[in-house]
Amino acid sequence: MSESLPMEINDTRTGTEPEVRKTVRKFSELEVLIRARYPLIYVVTWEEQRVLSLVNRIAGGLDKKVFEWSLTTGLVSGGTEAMLQKNKDTATQDPLVAMDKVLEIVDPALYVFKDLHAMLGRHNMAIIRRLREIAASLKNTYKTIVIVSPMLEIPPELEKDLTVVDFDLPRAKDFAMLLDRIIEEVKGNPKLDVNIHAETREAVIHALMGLTLSEAENVLAKTLVRHRGFGEKSVEVILSEKKQVILKSGMLEYYESQENMATVGGLDGLKTWLLKRAVAFTDKARSFGLPSPRGVLLLGVQGCGKSLMAKAISQVWRLPLLRFDVGKVFGSLVGSSEENVRRAIQVAESISPAILWIDEIDKAFRGSQSSGGNTDGGTSARVFGTFLSWMSDKTAPVFVVATANDISHLPPELLRKGRFDEIFFVDLPSKRERMNIFDVHLKKKGRDSKRFDLDRLATVSKGFSGAEIEEAITSSLFDAFYEQKDLSTEGILEAIRQTVPLSKTMSEQIDDLRKWASGRARPANTPESADEEEPGKRKLEL
Ligand SMILES: Nc1ncnc2c1ncn2[C@@H]1O[C@H](COP(=O)(O)OP(=O)(O)OP(=O)(O)O)[C@@H](O)[C@H]1O
Ligand SMILES: [Mg+2]
Repeated sequence: MSESLPMEINDTRTGTEPEVRKTVRKFSELEVLIRARYPLIYVVTWEEQRVLSLVNRIAGGLDKKVFEWSLTTGLVSGGTEAMLQKNKDTATQDPLVAMDKVLEIVDPALYVFKDLHAMLGRHNMAIIRRLREIAASLKNTYKTIVIVSPMLEIPPELEKDLTVVDFDLPRAKDFAMLLDRIIEEVKGNPKLDVNIHAETREAVIHALMGLTLSEAENVLAKTLVRHRGFGEKSVEVILSEKKQVILKSGMLEYYESQENMATVGGLDGLKTWLLKRAVAFTDKARSFGLPSPRGVLLLGVQGCGKSLMAKAISQVWRLPLLRFDVGKVFGSLVGSSEENVRRAIQVAESISPAILWIDEIDKAFRGSQSSGGNTDGGTSARVFGTFLSWMSDKTAPVFVVATANDISHLPPELLRKGRFDEIFFVDLPSKRERMNIFDVHLKKKGRDSKRFDLDRLATVSKGFSGAEIEEAITSSLFDAFYEQKDLSTEGILEAIRQTVPLSKTMSEQIDDLRKWASGRARPANTPESADEEEPGKRKLEL
């Protein structure tokens, strides 16, 4: 038996950055790893069946046998579920016994271990130790152990011996094959009409992107039963299923945004930049030579429209908006957070072009710094290592909109060129911008803004953020309702006078932020310039 070693192997065992576990992202590299005789491979996926069919294909090409191990069947020759159950080997249900068997068998073989991940905790030190021994001895054999697990949780003792493979979600061509297979299976059924228009077919396949193969199979079966065939309705069913999946992943949320550029007051610098890129995701832009925009970091003062803008972009660009919940990464889910981030990235990529909105990214880095490898075993640092390398390597058109208002925690790596196309500084609104914001919110409350003295309102609300302007309108709306009057300029002015804006209480922080941003970030606002004149001053036309 001769196995040629490929010239270049992406060796994950000798990563130079200890904090960031380098993962082999492409599942297609599994064969390379097996040929290169990596003894222990850890595949992260829910899709055992897809792994098994690939392992079988690889084994066929290399003339190797396939064995499967699970808690119920023990170690048995690979085969259908029925065969596995029939050949069940209770003696090897104990993983330690099964591993001894692996060492005994001399033939070249691939061993797929299904439930082992659940036993890789510290309380099972014997299993961890056995795996390390196996890793050492399998290096000189034609045997490989492939551990399949839905999550990435590896005890530190095994980090150097295991190679992690990220199982990519199915591609369009996998779904096309699945669809053909289902159609083939049911086409004799007179109750079903499986003729499918080319266009619908494409829409169905596109909608499936982001699901696993078995999720896709289930939802296709569901729509087949419900609609007696595949049509426009199927696409809806699939999309709603996908929302469920995204929700279940725990960190991403499909965000239905009502905002658009007209509901954001001011920020013209940022608006223009974004509008210019609105068409940058089309094929036409690609062939013109434009790269897909990568992302933008909105940095700035609280309540000035950063999150609002993130929501508006998706409407303007007509792309789905996925909100990434940073808080949850460091919440109770820390254990599985690395895996969740990877799935979030995969889902976002699979439904791309899309916008990935990471609100308050500074919070995340606060977590990653305080952990420093102590409090959570370096999980947060790794999670964001994963994230940062994705930011610079990504090729899928996923546009990242990140917002932050505390720069002191942002790591320099994040701000380095290549991660974001641009960093914008969102400052307090200028007078003209405040007029604009009053206009937006009065309209939102169903009032005719022409009946208000916007100039005066904007003048008196100097130093107010957009959020504070909105709040002043709301509070005077309450007063007016109570007094059975309508909303008036006077009423709003009264509310403004009663408010101490954050820019007063936090003036030092805001100054620091401005200092930091000058020269480093591009202004999102139109410059204050001449529109901030004091009221009553004579305007000269020179
Ligand atoms: N430029 C603006 N135009 C219109 N409304 C605004 C603007 N800025 C803020 N608002 C109003 O204030 C609310 C809060 O603003 P937003 O959440 O976007 O602030 P932020 O910059 O993300 O603040 P934080 O840093 O605290 O997250 C918005 O939902 C919106 O109603
Ligand atoms: Mg915000």
